[in-house]
Amino acid sequence: MSYQAHFKVWRGDAVGGGLADFEIAVNEGEVVLDIIHRLQATQAPDLAVRWNCKAGKCGSCSAEINGRPRLLCMTRMSVFGQDETVTVTPLRAFPVVRDLVTDVSFNYAKAREVPAFVPPADLKAGEYRMRQEDVGRSQEFRKCIECFLCQDTCHVVRDHEENKAAFAGPRFLMRVAELDMHPLDAADEMGVDRKRSAQEEHGLGYCNITKCCTEVCPEHIKITDNALIPLKERAVDRKYDPLVWLGNKIRRR
Ligand code: SF4
Ligand code: F3S
Ligand code: FES
Repeated sequence: MSYQAHFKVWRGDAVGGGLADFEIAVNEGEVVLDIIHRLQATQAPDLAVRWNCKAGKCGSCSAEINGRPRLLCMTRMSVFGQDETVTVTPLRAFPVVRDLVTDVSFNYAKAREVPAFVPPADLKAGEYRMRQEDVGRSQEFRKCIECFLCQDTCHVVRDHEENKAAFAGPRFLMRVAELDMHPLDAADEMGVDRKRSAQEEHGLGYCNITKCCTEVCPEHIKITDNALIPLKERAVDRKYDPLVWLGNKIRRR
């Protein structure tokens, strides 16, 4: 069954913009991205939107729907009442390029700041052995589609541009956690201390475990419980571990 929906879509660019009103047909089974495409086809051919897979896997179509960060292609129209206005706006934490497209390069810059996995020097390819338990732990984090909805949601940067330099955000703190819990990562032999850098370079201390990032993750990754809290625990353990403390003292002499 079709019906006419009322949409408000943000139109504009880096200089400014506002919400534009549309009345548009909705068919059974459609998602918000279908409606945006219908708007492009029938009423607003220059409406900018980023998308690719329409299957919740490329992470491109992130936007905010009625103020909540979501994937346009995975949000069914049936979750809204037929007389409810559906408001679609660009991700709030990142600069607008045009309409619903934002510049997410902040995230790529943060990704580059996390040193890559370092394989153990004494093992050759094919000799790596890991317990299934360890594999399973990082497999959850590997489901990330880099939609950056968690980055957009986190209150540390959402309305605080000034925190961006010091805070990597949940997605990249999760990456640090994944590497830190990897049993074969030998980054410490290259002078990379992942626990220390989580605190001092990636802003782990800014996270006060509000779990908003976890709530919006379309892959249902338990970012806070399985990555951020364990990383905080390990970083703190280390800081207050008397042997580590003594070791650091001796090394500093
Ligand atoms: Fe998106 Fe989840 Fe990855 Fe964050 S952790 S970028 S919300 S898939
Ligand atoms: Fe932000 Fe998630 Fe921590 S929303 S404050 S990174 S738990
Ligand atoms: Fe790929 Fe939505 S278009 S996740």
